[in-house]
Amino acid sequence: MDSQLTLPSLPSPTQAATLALSAFVVYKIWLVIYNLYFHPLAHFPGPRVAAATELWLPYRELYKGESLSDLRVRVHQQYGDIVRIGPNELHFARPTAYNEIYNMKHRWAKDYRLYRAFNLDSSSFSTTDIVASKRRRHVLSTLFSRQAISNMQGLVRDRITDMCDVLKRRDNAGKSSDLFFGFRGFTTDTITSFCFAKNFHATNAPEFEAPLIVALEQCLPSITLCKYFGSMLWVMNSIPEAIISKLSAPMAAVLLLKKTLLEQIKAVLRDPSVLENAPHPIIYHALLSPEINKGHALPSELGLLHEAQVLFSAGSDTVGTALMVAAFHLLHQPEQQRRLEEELRAAWPVLEEQPRFEALEKLPYLTAVVKETLRVSPGTPAGLPRVVPAAGAMLSGAFIPGGTIVSQSPLFVHNSEQIFPNAHVFDPERWMQPNSSQLETHLVAFSKGPRSCLGINLAYCELYLCLATVFRQFDVRLDTTKAAELSWTEHFLPHFHGEHLRAFCTPRSE
Ligand code: HEM
Repeated sequence: MDSQLTLPSLPSPTQAATLALSAFVVYKIWLVIYNLYFHPLAHFPGPRVAAATELWLPYRELYKGESLSDLRVRVHQQYGDIVRIGPNELHFARPTAYNEIYNMKHRWAKDYRLYRAFNLDSSSFSTTDIVASKRRRHVLSTLFSRQAISNMQGLVRDRITDMCDVLKRRDNAGKSSDLFFGFRGFTTDTITSFCFAKNFHATNAPEFEAPLIVALEQCLPSITLCKYFGSMLWVMNSIPEAIISKLSAPMAAVLLLKKTLLEQIKAVLRDPSVLENAPHPIIYHALLSPEINKGHALPSELGLLHEAQVLFSAGSDTVGTALMVAAFHLLHQPEQQRRLEEELRAAWPVLEEQPRFEALEKLPYLTAVVKETLRVSPGTPAGLPRVVPAAGAMLSGAFIPGGTIVSQSPLFVHNSEQIFPNAHVFDPERWMQPNSSQLETHLVAFSKGPRSCLGINLAYCELYLCLATVFRQFDVRLDTTKAAELSWTEHFLPHFHGEHLRAFCTPRSE
């Protein structure tokens, strides 16, 4: 008997590659068939190609250059209230869905695919772990609570004064001012002074065009890129920073910000006693306090950097946009501007004696302007994706299987004609009607639930103080040489591309 064993010959490298490729193609075809016919979401309406493949959304956003905010409206018009916008993803149009998704009862996790795009995994904003997020929010609440903000309103007022000084100087020289950049300069200087006790003096930049603010605006589209192609982050993180700085001016400004924040963090970690010299509590007092952290591990150097970067970004653009949108509408509707100015003059008769935030909050028309601004301003137009827990959930009258990614853009609540008739009109009066308190539940600019905005108190303080000061201290008139536009594309935040709002701001003498 022949006892020799004959082994099958191994495939050549070409055969192996062909086999692997064939297996990959078969798997992809099977995935498309599964997504279309066997996936738990198969019965939900939506574009077939969106149901079949993850590539539909990046195709529309990146290749076709469509704004997701417009695309969502179109697909809901075509397919109804609940639309499957990805193989495992649903978006909801009925405004009641908002409070069903984002509330304190549910505590659903954020979807990692979007939040990793910010490259700030260890921050309060990007972490998808609800327990870690709760802990971090508790620590930071010592700075962002209502009481803490009330105590710090002098700092906000000082940064407004800085901006107003520039507005005055420009007016003396017969020049109008770019309020888009001006307000962003103010919010940037406020958040850096507040969080790090470092005034970046963005309002001092010529024409208010601080390189960092311009750079952050230009970098916004990269969020959309990284949202779909997480590997871009790996590429970006592996290129030496010196090379990135040479290749891209906006990235150079962003890296400079990172370097500045990191220098402070290293100094604090090297010698925590430097915190004693800070003029007021800053984020590192809280983040590095064993008492406030209740024995939990303190954040690492990277964790501190991520938190600093998040607070910087979250606190600058959002409030800056809201201020610009408020000014845009008031300046285009003189009757509203006049009414606000009259109310302010009555409540603030002597220019030098500025009312406190708490007094301004009681002014009915200013309050209505602030609320209407938050309704119409595209602060964070993105649908904020959440993962439905394993047991599934009822949303908008339908059972949604566990693991589904669900979201609703706040624009579907704020632009609802049922809740806000003539929703496209900026109308502060709607907040002064007898039944207007019912509208409050539908003001979702700061989102709702355990991951709602951490900086809401600071944001309100800035909005009230800044709008009151600008419209009381200045006679503000549109510079009509260029018609300002509010057109924007969604890149998580709005990326504005029209002419900026410009106005002549002439100081009042009384
Ligand atoms: C008008 C101004 C603002 C608007 C419209 C706004 C809106 C929002 C929204 C919608 C979210 C939820 C995001 C999500 O679920 O992914 C959020 C989260 C957050 N906001 Fe704001 N925000 C504003 C101002 C601020 C300010 C001044 C700060 C101060 C630093 C801030 C800090 C944060 C942080 C840290 C989070 C993450 C909270 C978490 O995930 O637990 N925001 N904001």
